[in-house]
Amino acid sequence: MASLNTRIHDWSRQRVWLIGASSGIGAALAQDLLSAGAQVALSARRADRLETVAGDAAQALVAPFDILNKDGWRDRYADICARFGGVDLIIFCAADYHPERSWEVTSEGAAHTLAVNLGSVYTGLATVLPDMLARGSGGIAIVASVAGYLGLPNASVYGPSKAALINLAELLYADLHPRGLGVYLINPGFVQTELTAKNTFAMPALQTPQAAASAIRGGLSDGAFEIHFPRRFTLIIKLLRWLPYRLRFALMTHLVVPT
Ligand SMILES: NC(=O)c1ccc[n+]([C@@H]2O[C@H](COP(=O)([O-])OP(=O)(O)OC[C@H]3O[C@@H](n4cnc5c(N)ncnc54)[C@H](OP(=O)(O)O)[C@@H]3O)[C@@H](O)[C@H]2O)c1
Repeated sequence: MASLNTRIHDWSRQRVWLIGASSGIGAALAQDLLSAGAQVALSARRADRLETVAGDAAQALVAPFDILNKDGWRDRYADICARFGGVDLIIFCAADYHPERSWEVTSEGAAHTLAVNLGSVYTGLATVLPDMLARGSGGIAIVASVAGYLGLPNASVYGPSKAALINLAELLYADLHPRGLGVYLINPGFVQTELTAKNTFAMPALQTPQAAASAIRGGLSDGAFEIHFPRRFTLIIKLLRWLPYRLRFALMTHLVVPT
């Protein structure tokens, strides 16, 4: 079957801007893409961590900023264009996560998580899309989560932000694919990172960031729209989503609802 996006055969021709590259999946993916020959601009707030991730790779550019700062997007994009000549693929991988039950959420905390996980993606899109649309080429990759497939306790703000990102990726594909752009939706299961170190419950099918990076690069290379892994876990969660609510809630109570 034909892939939904153009396959990426030659990473040495790709100029990638990776948002959230200082730790976890983003750091592993930055190193994986650099090894494959891509030019990679690494962004996040912790510049020292970005330097470590970049190592001595000649085709890396460390571009630290806070994604809640609109001027930061404009300034770093200008830096990247000055060095690389443009961006072929932007990967939105940054996130804020606080495991909390619904009664523990504060409006300030919710606003912050939504701004990092969702609002920043709109600012990033407004930054890169005009040039991509003018060229009629480029790619947008959004890291959402299986937590966006269905409402899971503990992911009180994170889950809704990821559900919104899944929705956003779907509409972006409909909007941008006919204009020559690629759109990729990345839905990982559990990966061992600083983010999931906050979890106190058992995480089934936990993967390393390197395995996640490899699955993501494989999916991008294959031109997949949705890249989800590990399938032995994500397919079960997808199945739960299609069950009638009565059955879904009953199963979730046994499987995933923390006390
Ligand atoms: N780990 C999992 O099991 C899992 C599962 C599904 C989906 N995901 C998704 O995968 C992505 C990566 O998660 P991870 O597990 O690798 O988490 P992580 O290690 O905590 O990485 C999060 C990244 O986001 C960056 N970030 C956060 N706030 C930022 C801000 N205001 N400005 C700039 N950068 C910011 C962090 O960098 P600084 O702190 O240096 O700014 C860091 O690079 C996220 O979108 C997450 O939702 C993870």
